[in-house]
Amino acid sequence: MRTILRFLKRIWFLNFVRRLYTASKYYNKKYIQIIKWGFTSREDTNYTYDIKDENKNYLAQTISVVTGKDFNEVYGYLKEILEDDSLVAHVQECIKNSKQGKFADKNVKFGRRIGWYAFVRALKPKIVVETGVDKGLGSVILCSALNKNKQEGFEGYYYGTDINPEAGYIFSGEYTQFGEILYGDSIESLSNLNKSIDIFINDSDHSADYEYQEYQTITPLLNQNSIILGDNSHKFDPLSRYSIENNRKFLFFKEKPLNHWYPGGGIGISYL
Ligand SMILES: C[S@@+](CC[C@H](N)C(=O)[O-])C[C@H]1O[C@@H](n2cnc3c(N)ncnc32)[C@H](O)[C@@H]1O
Repeated sequence: MRTILRFLKRIWFLNFVRRLYTASKYYNKKYIQIIKWGFTSREDTNYTYDIKDENKNYLAQTISVVTGKDFNEVYGYLKEILEDDSLVAHVQECIKNSKQGKFADKNVKFGRRIGWYAFVRALKPKIVVETGVDKGLGSVILCSALNKNKQEGFEGYYYGTDINPEAGYIFSGEYTQFGEILYGDSIESLSNLNKSIDIFINDSDHSADYEYQEYQTITPLLNQNSIILGDNSHKFDPLSRYSIENNRKFLFFKEKPLNHWYPGGGIGISYL
C-alpha cells in the first residue's frame, strides 16, 4: 500500500490535486457557512457571533495574566455576561423597535466583547472609554459591567464616542445611568475629555493612522493602572508600536468565532 502511495505521489498531477484538496479542507466549511449566513443573517457589518468554548478559556487566561486575578474569577465574569438574560432581552427589544434594527440579528451574540466586560468587572474602573459605538452593543455590555460593579460598591462611568449622530440605538433605558455618548470625531471628543481613563477601548475609524492618533491623544489621560484595548490589532499594529514606544507590555488575544464564516478579530491589550 505504502509503495503504491509513494508511486502515486511521484505523478505530479495526482500530487497537485491531493495537495489542493488538503489545503481546501481548511476553507470548504466556510463556504457552507457563508451561504447559510447569506440566508439567515441581516448583518452587513460589525458581525456578531459567539466564540468557541476553548477560546473562552484562552480569553479568561489572557485576562487573568493581565489583571493578576484568578482564572476562575475572570471566567465567572464571562459566564455572568453570557447568562445576562435581561441584557439580551433589552438588545432584542431595541432591534425590534428601531428602524436601524432591520440590519441586526435578533439572536444576540457578544463575541470578544465578553472580554471587555470581564476587564471592567475585574478592574472596577472609574472611567471607561469606548471609541466607536455603532449600534451600542459594546456600550450596553460595558454599562452592564459598571452596573454590577456599582452593586458591589465600585462606581464607574462610561463614555462612548461616535461620528455618526444615529449611532447607539441599543444604548438606552437603565444602561444610560452609567454613561453617555459623545457625538462627533473621536479625536476631538478625547481632546476635550479631561478625565483620567482607566480602561480605553479603540474601535472607531479603523485606519492605522487614526488608531495611533487616538492613543497619542489619550496619553496625558492615562494613569499607572490604565489598560488600553485595541479592537483592530488583528489587522494593524499601532497599539503594539505605541506600547513599545511607551514602555508598555502588549498581548494579543485571537478570537475564534463559533459557526460563523468571519475569521475573527481579537483584543490587543496594552498595560504597564
Ligand atoms: C466597528 S464600529 C464600532 C463597534 C462597537 N464598538 C461595538 O462594540 O459594536 C465603528 C464605529 O466607529 C465610528 N467612527 C468611524 N470613524 C469615527 C471617528 N473619526 N470618530 C468617531 N467615530 C467614528 C463609526 O460611525 C462606527 O459606528
